[in-house]
Amino acid sequence: MPWKELPLRIAPSLLSCDFARLAEELAGVEAGGADWHHVDVMDGHFVPNLTIGPPVVERIHATAKRPLDVHLMITEPARYAEAFARAGAHVLTFHVELCADDAAARSVARAFRDAGVPEVGIALNPDTPVERVAGVLDAVDLVLVMSVFPGFGGQRFMPEVLPKTVWLREHGYAGHVEMDGGLNPETLPRCAAAGADVLVAGSAIYGVPDRRTRIRELRAAGEAARRTA
Ligand code: DX5
Ligand code: ZN
Repeated sequence: MPWKELPLRIAPSLLSCDFARLAEELAGVEAGGADWHHVDVMDGHFVPNLTIGPPVVERIHATAKRPLDVHLMITEPARYAEAFARAGAHVLTFHVELCADDAAARSVARAFRDAGVPEVGIALNPDTPVERVAGVLDAVDLVLVMSVFPGFGGQRFMPEVLPKTVWLREHGYAGHVEMDGGLNPETLPRCAAAGADVLVAGSAIYGVPDRRTRIRELRAAGEAARRTA
């Protein structure tokens, strides 16, 4: 199916929610129209921050009514494939920077599938050229083009990564292209116009009191940008 026919998916990033009220926060964005929950897993090695692991993801899955889009920022993704599959990850994404070559990336993707993960994603840091994933596109369901350096919410969007998304669509990649980092009502339309269909927003959604209005605004802006692209 041509990429413009993929429905836009708005994925609030839990990193900016109030973790003390996790179930309420999840229910609130679901009622507001969220399509996926983006779950950032950090190990303090691949990125200079620590977040949550499989037991918390499992509890999120128990209460969430939308698919979990789990973004692994950890140095040994294959080692934890089964734990995150069991915890309920729908999309499980690893970083290509951890893989020496295409064979290594394929083996991580294979480990995820063998663990029973429904959809496998591969992520690129802002300074990683898109050609690094060119040889493994057939092995993944999603490419995550990071628009900030991973580690923290609330950073400024880096427009210089947009050509990577354009490149993927121009080269016929018909899977999901996700963008993550600094998306808000001004920057999200640029991602949608470039070809992204999964749009992650942390502070732009959880940082405002009226999530429904914000999600609606983001979706409308993304759909309008895509129509004119
Ligand atoms: C950054 C994470 C993002 C982050 C996005 O390492 O991968 O998912 O939560 O947050 P915002 O939308 O605030 O940039
Ligand atoms: Zn993320």
